[in-house]
Parts: sequence; structure tokens; C-alpha cells
Amino acid sequence: MHAVCIPYPAQGHINPMLKLAKLLHHKGFHITFVNTEYNHKRLLRSRGLDSLSDLPDFRFETIPDGLPPTDDDNVTQDVFSLFDSLSVNGLEPFRRILRELNDGVGSPSSDAAPRVTCIVTDEQLVFPMEAAQELGVPCVALWTASAVSLVCYAHIPRLFEEGLTPVTGAKGLTKEYLDTVIEWMPGMKDMRFKDFPSYVRATDPNDAMLNFILKEMSRGFKASAMVFNTFEPLEQDALATILSILGTIPVYTVGPLHLLADRIKDDRSKRIDCNLWVEQSECLEWLDSRQPESVIYVNFGSIAVMSPQHLIEFAWGLANSKQSFLWIIRPDLVEGKAAILPPEFVTETEGRGLLASWCRQDEVLKHPSVGGFLSHMGWNSTIESVSAGVPMLCLPNFGDQQTNTWLACTKLGIGMGIDEDIKRDQVEMLVRELMEGEKGIEMKAKAIEWKEKAKKASGADGSSSQNLDKLLTDILCCPT
Ligand code: UDX
Repeated sequence: MHAVCIPYPAQGHINPMLKLAKLLHHKGFHITFVNTEYNHKRLLRSRGLDSLSDLPDFRFETIPDGLPPTDDDNVTQDVFSLFDSLSVNGLEPFRRILRELNDGVGSPSSDAAPRVTCIVTDEQLVFPMEAAQELGVPCVALWTASAVSLVCYAHIPRLFEEGLTPVTGAKGLTKEYLDTVIEWMPGMKDMRFKDFPSYVRATDPNDAMLNFILKEMSRGFKASAMVFNTFEPLEQDALATILSILGTIPVYTVGPLHLLADRIKDDRSKRIDCNLWVEQSECLEWLDSRQPESVIYVNFGSIAVMSPQHLIEFAWGLANSKQSFLWIIRPDLVEGKAAILPPEFVTETEGRGLLASWCRQDEVLKHPSVGGFLSHMGWNSTIESVSAGVPMLCLPNFGDQQTNTWLACTKLGIGMGIDEDIKRDQVEMLVRELMEGEKGIEMKAKAIEWKEKAKKASGADGSSSQNLDKLLTDILCCPT
């Protein structure tokens, strides 16, 4: 069996796809993992390597992303431009890779891979599904965000029909508007407009992202199966709704993928890693020197940006909380310029704070010194925190992060939300509450319960491990 795996080219999508690829490799698949040229260069640079894999049966290929070259080739690319460009320019180079792989079959070269038998694509890329159809092989789509966010995306056309989005005319995007309860949401009756993925807040009827989503939704889901990086009890209601949304397309929940991948023993692929930034190992060493559960870990993922004013408000909130913290500030976190923190902040927090630019997040979250996570609520961060039993403060930025915040705070009981218009007093109060307050203790207890459930789902006989096996027997190992 030979699976060609292609993630949407961003860190939060590459990570779960790589975990799934490693699991398939472990089950005996030959893997071809397709990155964009831009990202592949960054991945090699961040690891100081010439090649990401030295395994003959786990290889990397690249396609151009079709975007014009930039002055700085080490920054996060614009999400929408990438969608747009790949949907136009992705198919041809991807076809070429498939052709070359299949043309090499039977060649005497020791390099030759077996014939491509299936494609595993990010759900947000449509062209690999077309290529799979042309080739007559199954195509599995990995949805890298939460199941609840998919339910929301699927209901955006209804928000549109009811005139709730785009937010035009006299109504404006007021607090009352954001707090409007959308009572007809299946399984999410208390959901407010502001809990929907942020794209619905568009005020321009021609908003590119909103129209892109509407177009995608009307095109329907085309894969042979959909795979979710979640587990059954975590998103039960949403998963039940998804079954009716997807109709005949089978659904497999195989998360948390990182826990399943961690269980691979004798993993020849363990060395293969896809971090776009250089990891700072001193973060873990510093955590070793701290007291159990005494550190709040702060990270806003790989895409979120902050205004310089919000950075300052946030920094003072953190400093005034008097808690120990590990704060990861990506080089491109702050809009338009490098993050500049006031010298007084550095003096004030000396000895109790560590600033770094990238870390090994799954290891950090598992560290016994970490007592809370202040997150932008990307789905990977959310499920990694759930898996580690760490309660969260939620500061969503864009996309599905608002919906994941709703899930963590309302359904799971492991999160408290921070207002998107960051104010230092609120940050200070909530950080204290999380680390020392009653609510923090309650959330910690809940988080431990979810950790146990995640462990069970990803265990040898757990639902996610069984679903992965079913995915193989039902779809990936079955010729179409
Ligand atoms: C994006 C979207 O923003 C998110 O909402 C969507 O659900 C997935 O794609 P991103 O913003 O990067 O992802 O957040 P997240 O989903 O949390 O993914 C970030 C990944 O990078 C995580 O797996 C995290 O462990 C890893 N990471 C992040 C590190 O390893 N080190 C870091 O310092 C920061």
C-alpha cells in the first residue's frame, strides 16, 4: 500500500497529517508526504538538515504554492492567499508527482516506490480529491479542526439566508449582535453568533473568505471518508450532527493523533519532524527548575497575530498576576513589526518568566511544572491540552478558535474566555483565578477527567485505535 499524504501548508495542519502518516507507515504503508516548496525549505532550515527522512519507505515531495516570492522567506503565509492560489495552481504539479511515482513502478532502481493506492488530503484542499478520482484510488480527507467547527461551517449558509452574516447596514458588529443566541444550532443550543468561526463577522458582502467558505460548502464533501482528530466522548453531539451532514461519507474519529502516534514502538519514523521554527530546548530545562503546576504556559500558535497595543496590555496583565510563566513569542506574532516589550516588564518579571520563540509544545504541556495554558485555541493546542489534563485560558484570534473556546468553556468545563479586546486587569484576574482560584481547581479536576478519556480512546483497544484499523480495512486497503 502506498499513501500520498498532502496537508494544507500551515503548521497546525502539517502536524496532525504527519502524525497520521506515521501511523499509516507503522501499519506498513509506503508514504509520500507532499509539502509546498516554501514550507519544505523552512522545515529543512529549522532542523539544519538536507533531507527530512532517510527512510526508503517514507519520502517527501514538493509542489509550488503558486504565490509570488516574498522578501522574507521565513514567515507565516497569508491563509486566504494560500487557499486561493492552491485551488488554482495545485492540481497540475500534484498530478505530475502521482504520474512520476506510478511511472517509476517496476523500474530496477532501488528507489522505486509501489504504485499509489490512496490519497490522504487535508479536507480544505479539493484538488487532491480530483486527482484521486482521475487515478481511481480512494481519497481520505483529514479535518484538522474540531468537529464542532465543522458543524458551524456547515450552517454558515443558514446564517447567510437569515441575514445574520455578512453584518451589513445599521446593525453593525455591536456587543448585542455578537451575543445573539443562534437557537437552531443542532446540539449547540446556547451558541452565540460570536462563537461561530470568526469569518461570519465579515461586514462586506464581497468578503473573500466568507464567499470562499460558502462556495466550498455548496460544493459539498467529496472524499471517500472523513477523518477527525478528535475522540468520541469529547465531541459527541457534534459528531452525531456531522453524520447527518455528511450523509453517505463514512466518518472516523482517530484522535488525539499525537497520543496514538506516541504509542508507536520501534518507530523508525520518530526522527521525522516538521517544525517550521527552531525549537528552543531550554524551555523544558527551565521548566525542570520550577515547582509542580506553578507555571502558566502561553502560546498563540503559528498564525495568530496581535496588535502592539494588545501585546503591551497582555504583557502587563501577565506580569501583574505575579505568576510564573513560559511565554512563546513567535518572531511574527506582532502585526507589522517585531514584538517589543517594555524594559520595565522584563525587570518586573525577572526570575519568574521565560520568553522564547518556539518550543516543543506537546512536551511542554506534559511537563509537571505546567499548571495552566493560555492559548489562542487552535484545535491542535486545544486537544493537546485536553490530552495533558491542563486547564485553559482562551484568547481566540480567528477562524475556528472562537468555536473551540465555546467548546472548552461551555461543554468541557476546562476553559475561561478572555475578551478579544485585551485589557490588562482582566488578564491579571483570570491568570490568578486559573492558577490559584476555586474555578481553577474545578477546571483542573475536569481537565484530568478529559485526559483519562483521551488516554482511553487512544489506548490499544480504545475507540480511536479501533477506528483507525477500520479506516484501513474499510477504505484505505480497499481498491475502489
Ligand atoms: C491553525 C489554526 O489557527 C487553528 O485554528 C486550526 O484549528 C488549525 O490550524 P495554529 O494557529 O497554528 O493552527 O494552532 P494549532 O492548531 O494550535 O496548531 C499549532 C501546532 O504547532 C500545535 O500542534 C502545537 O503543538 C505546535 N506548536 C506551536 C509547537 O510545537 N510549538 C510552539 O511553540 C507553538
